[in-house]
Amino acid sequence: MIDEIQRLETDGVARIGAAATLDDLVAADRDVLGKKSALNGLKRGLGGLSEDERRTVGAALNAAQQALRAAVAAKRDELTASTRLAEAEAERLDLTEVRADRDAGHLALITQVIEELEDIFVGMGFIVAEGPEVEDDWHNFTALNFPRHHPARDLQDTFFVGLGGEREVVMRTHTSPVQMRLMESQEPPIYAVVPGRTYRNEATDATHLAVFHQIEALVIDRGITFGHLAGTIDRFIKVFMGPGYATRLRPAYFPFTEPSAEFDVQRPDGTWLELGGCGMVHPNVLRNGGIDPEAWSGFAFGFGLDRLATTRQGIPDLRELTSPDIRFLQQI
Ligand code: PHE
Repeated sequence: MIDEIQRLETDGVARIGAAATLDDLVAADRDVLGKKSALNGLKRGLGGLSEDERRTVGAALNAAQQALRAAVAAKRDELTASTRLAEAEAERLDLTEVRADRDAGHLALITQVIEELEDIFVGMGFIVAEGPEVEDDWHNFTALNFPRHHPARDLQDTFFVGLGGEREVVMRTHTSPVQMRLMESQEPPIYAVVPGRTYRNEATDATHLAVFHQIEALVIDRGITFGHLAGTIDRFIKVFMGPGYATRLRPAYFPFTEPSAEFDVQRPDGTWLELGGCGMVHPNVLRNGGIDPEAWSGFAFGFGLDRLATTRQGIPDLRELTSPDIRFLQQI
């Protein structure tokens, strides 16, 4: 009988182990341990045995039942875990989406032009400098040889800022105030370019912006001549615009340079574009910057970047430069 119980336990453990699903396991549990199971049949037959036999067989039956219950519990744990895994796998949601092309933006045209010009001038031995966009009267006008009531101030329609004394603080009307800041902060020789934003109280149209960009150049060294100025301008225009472009200087007036000139660029089709102003740094300006005009001389020029950028790119209207229209931006 003990052998019989052993066999039933071994078979039962095998049966339980073979269950592939929780339903299989319920059926196996019933067959092996249920009321109608062989094991239970043996239990019911215990009454017909002698006291001694009943004790041994009873103990063997209990041990077999416990072993089988443990097998069922272990199998149930195993099947529950794998069922959960299968469910999770089946219900899994992929929330990522892969797009073939990402739309990457790019630098604004003006920023591209500034970086390119910086490279050209750095290649010629210049440093790149910056200055504040909100300026005081001294740097924007007075130190640049525009006395208080000088009519040349009217050429630069100015936005005044409500700070300090009357008309004391301005949105800088050009990048020339940085000439003064450079002279104040370093000893000559100075070879510097200054790109930046500038402001004038102008009605906006295809060729004028109230907020625009300039790049200034300042050179101060011993023995600097007008020839150096003309050569530098012609060189950077040919490098930046291409060999088909030429330059010319026309006499002009600026309070902070003497002599002064305007410089124009000739397009390959022969037409001229007015680009900026230039000249030899005025002795008063050198003195205001703490530099001895007997020992040093220099040139300066400043021109509008917006026109240069649109001319090279063939954009007919300066206002396009701030256009948010994606169809325009994609062409740059
Ligand atoms: N600052 C002048 C302007 O904005 C241009 C200029 C710069 C002229 C340097 C001479 C020298 O019109």
